[in-house]
Amino acid sequence: MAIISTFCKKGGVGKSTFIGFLAHYLATQGKKVLIISTDDQNSIFKIFGIEDDGSDNYLEFLLAGKADLGDILIDARENLYLIKSLNTDNMSLKLTLERSQEKVIQKMLRDYSSFFDYIFVDFPPSSNRLTEVLLDLSDAILIVVGLDSLGLDGFFNTIQYFVDKDIDLNNIKYILPNGYSVNRRAPKVSLEKLNNQAKDFTPNAKILPALNEKSIVKNLQDKGISPFDDVELERYDAKERDMLRETLKNLFSNINI
Ligand SMILES: Nc1ncnc2c1ncn2[C@@H]1O[C@H](COP(=O)(O)OP(=O)(O)OP(=O)(O)O)[C@@H](O)[C@H]1O
Ligand SMILES: [Mg+2]
Repeated sequence: MAIISTFCKKGGVGKSTFIGFLAHYLATQGKKVLIISTDDQNSIFKIFGIEDDGSDNYLEFLLAGKADLGDILIDARENLYLIKSLNTDNMSLKLTLERSQEKVIQKMLRDYSSFFDYIFVDFPPSSNRLTEVLLDLSDAILIVVGLDSLGLDGFFNTIQYFVDKDIDLNNIKYILPNGYSVNRRAPKVSLEKLNNQAKDFTPNAKILPALNEKSIVKNLQDKGISPFDDVELERYDAKERDMLRETLKNLFSNINI
């Protein structure tokens, strides 16, 4: 069992999208996969077209001992389950005030590890004590970087955050440059800069092949469809979806988790 986190101090760079795609792909390969959303927006649910049904299935309830492991699991796809959170600032406050809460989180991950091959953690760009604890417990951290100047600032702020909070930079195993475009100069320049910065700050991280900006990603997301869903699409979308699938499969073949 491996715990994998996607993180970046910049919002909207594709963290949830990428982790959702990777998790679903592994699930289609027969792996048992769990995604824990520590983002109060729970936007990972949108990727799979799952609406919040308003039920009380929150991570907080498990940690407070008010729900069992199975109660808070939400079925997303075959072999793929999601957990949503309600108020992570509250959880963080508790973690700060009571050291024993850290043990509760460790125990939760240990308990789930007997059911799942992979546990993914989806983070918002903001951070708190819960972020630190979960990043520390991760076997691999994947940083998604948007290929523009704000995206690069986000990468730098992420490094700064790790250093400030004494989180091991060596746990950053992969960096995904997102939003490449062959026709535009800015993403190319950003990619070069990212390569240089990563050499200095995260020499242990593997930089994955850049993911292109593709309209099909947003189109599918608007419909709550993952590229690994076998659903009927209009001809053009189906072709784009198949191409995206191949690109993602190639990308994932660089990830060894
Ligand atoms: N390669 C891509 N091509 C086109 N659109 C993309 C690509 N990657 C992500 N997007 C789109 O960008 C938007 C933001 O993506 P996502 O929600 O995954 O980012 P995030 O980093 O998780 O954001 P947040 O910081 O708010 O959690 C979404 O609408 C998503 O569909
Ligand atoms: Mg997100």
